[in-house]
Amino acid sequence: MARLRYLTAGESHGPALSGILEGMPAGMPLTLEDIHADSIRRKMGYGRGNRMKIETDDVKILAGVRRGETLGSPIALYIENRDHQKWLDIMAIEPREGVAARAVYIPRPGHTDRVGGLKYDRPDMRDILERASARETAMRVALGAIARRLLAELGISVASRVVRIGEVVDETPLDADIATLNARVDESPVRVLDPHAAERIVQQIDTAREAGDTLGGVFEVVAGGLPIGLGSHAQWDRRLDGRIGEAFLALNAIKGVELGLGFRGSALPGSAVHDAYFPGENGELTRYGSNRAGGIEGGISTGQPIVVRVAMKPISTLMKPLPSVDLRSGEATNAYIERSDVCAVPAAAVIGESLLALVLADAVLETFPGDTIGMLRDYVGAWREKIRAR
Ligand SMILES: Cc1cc2nc3c(=O)[nH]c(=O)nc-3n(C[C@H](O)[C@H](O)[C@H](O)COP(=O)(O)O)c2cc1C
Repeated sequence: MARLRYLTAGESHGPALSGILEGMPAGMPLTLEDIHADSIRRKMGYGRGNRMKIETDDVKILAGVRRGETLGSPIALYIENRDHQKWLDIMAIEPREGVAARAVYIPRPGHTDRVGGLKYDRPDMRDILERASARETAMRVALGAIARRLLAELGISVASRVVRIGEVVDETPLDADIATLNARVDESPVRVLDPHAAERIVQQIDTAREAGDTLGGVFEVVAGGLPIGLGSHAQWDRRLDGRIGEAFLALNAIKGVELGLGFRGSALPGSAVHDAYFPGENGELTRYGSNRAGGIEGGISTGQPIVVRVAMKPISTLMKPLPSVDLRSGEATNAYIERSDVCAVPAAAVIGESLLALVLADAVLETFPGDTIGMLRDYVGAWREKIRAR
């Protein structure tokens, strides 16, 4: 049963984004700096549009925290949309006469404009695209930063890197130091480990921009320092792998999720896929670092790093637009253009850290009693001791 719940609200050019996170223990130190650090990282990455320069993601905490500590009550966050000032009439909350400027009647292929417009009977598809926009992920990142703070209290770290953008791949093997991975990867304009790959990716993004085209890619999110035993095999919706898959597939533009070897493992014999056990030096089991399973077996965390690979489709809005139809006239025309990124894979990787942090914090809180952060720390510590002795 989920212990941590969250909801977001807000349109892309509306007054603000709001979010509520319920289920956090009391007594956890939390400041705005914890949240802002991740908000800034979400805006990074070569290939982002001008919107990133407008939005400073100035998060406010409205509830659930007092004098730098969580209260155990729901935490409410608020992020003002600075851009809203230019959209006051278009996005007015109160009734207005006539059709708003920048109404959208020509659906963009790859977006939810058309199906959402039909489903909700909104002829001006702005009513759909405003909420479908990935601007909403600013709030998921802010809520995820709180989950990350909880995990940090337990020695669990979450990080990410990009492994592919378009044709260029960077498969540099990950070393064990997940806690320092972000510091290394954040130096790269496209969040890859190999600087040569970064150069080629930047060139590729420039070429796509000149052609009015867009790019997708693959990113990897990893978590280390986990206790054994998060999630369960006992019921389908308690499986940790299933919950991770859902969280990632529920992110805009995500079309595939792998754990460990994932699709690559499907082409190999079992002997090259499963992580064998050996007797360790002190009577414990060891796998000598082999983690092809990606940290989960049978829906339960193995204590090894969780490794998730995620495929993102290219951005749907093309500056050289795809063919579409004007729904007022039925005439063929080019798709509507809204200001847009060329490539957002580096940002999606940062968002992915928040998504994984939220799933893992939920699984931790479900497994260990945690009305207070001290209680949670004690129970997780005692469990780690008990397991070590086996
Ligand atoms: C971080 C991030 C930034 C995005 N930026 C844009 C953008 O600037 N323009 C755009 O058309 N789509 C952008 N998208 C993708 C759309 O949000 C998404 O493709 C669209 O909602 C269609 O959703 P679907 O692919 O999940 O069906 C972005 C997605 C993410 C995760």
